[in-house]
Parts: sequence; C-alpha cells; structure tokens
Amino acid sequence: MAEELYMVAGAGKKETYETLLPQLASLIHGESDLTANLANISAALHDTFHWWWVGFYWVKQEELVLGPFQGSIACTRIKFGKGVCGTAWMEGKSQLVPDVNAFPGHIACSGSSVAEIVVPVFDRERNVAGVLDLDSERFDVLDEIDVYYLELVSKMITNTLKHEMKI
Ligand code: SME
Repeated sequence: MAEELYMVAGAGKKETYETLLPQLASLIHGESDLTANLANISAALHDTFHWWWVGFYWVKQEELVLGPFQGSIACTRIKFGKGVCGTAWMEGKSQLVPDVNAFPGHIACSGSSVAEIVVPVFDRERNVAGVLDLDSERFDVLDEIDVYYLELVSKMITNTLKHEMKI
C-alpha cells in the first residue's frame, strides 16, 4: 500500500478504527519483521488518534523491555506484575485505566499522562509476547471502544508472528 493513511474527516471513533484497521492489516501484510511492523503500527495509531504516547513493550526473559513507540522517552524495563503494563502481562488481560491516579502501582513515565490502556499481545501458544500501551493526557478519551479495536490490532500482530519472537 501507499505509505500514507486514508482517514475520513470528522469521523467518530468507531468509524475511524473501521477505516484504519484494514489499512493496518495491509501495512503489515507480507512483512515478517516484527520491529518494522510494531513501528508502523505505533506511528499509524499515533498519527490517527494523537494520543500522548503509544508503543510496545516486549517480553525479554523476566522483564518487559521498551520496543517501538511514538511519543516522549519512556521507562525501558518493567517487571512482571508491576505497573499497568506488568499487570496486563501477569493477568493476560487488557487494562483500561481512565485515571492513572486510581491504579495502585502505576508507573509514571510522564507526568502528562493521566489515562492509559494496555492490551496484551499473545504469541501463537497464547503466551503474552508483549503489550501495546497507550497513554492520554486527557481523562475523557479512552474507553471500551478503544479496548475492543486495540485487541483486534493485537490479534493482527499475533497473526504475523511465527516462531521468531525476538525484536
Ligand atoms: N504507565 C506504564 C508504564 C509505561 S509508560 O506509560 C510508557 C505502567 O504503569 O506500566
């Protein structure tokens, strides 16, 4: 596909995701390099929704390690069960955090981030391979609609994974 995203001006959130997801699919289709795909997905989500931060942490031994992202510099390593990311890894479940102050143990990489969603990315054997993390500097923008579509993005990534899991 052309290296440009098509978006419908003035579209709502659902319609925007519905327009974006097929483009994401063709963006990563046929590309087997994980870093390239995670980098393009971060950029596409960031360009589309203008969140404060969006990117990936990937499981490496006992930790999550910072992967491709868009936004300000961030913490590089997160332990199992720690913060929102480590919790999503431990529980194998998406975390919707409308107010990070209400999430005990939230790791503040940036004081500007006030709300967050973390979605696990599974490998083919249903182990958590990494997480997709996004942060907003607004309290009122992240909801279940985002979780629904970001889980579809996560499944898309799983489908590109073969046996080589390393970034
Ligand atoms: N807030 C996350 C840490 C990663 S940054 O948001 C990029 C957490 O609590 O796990």
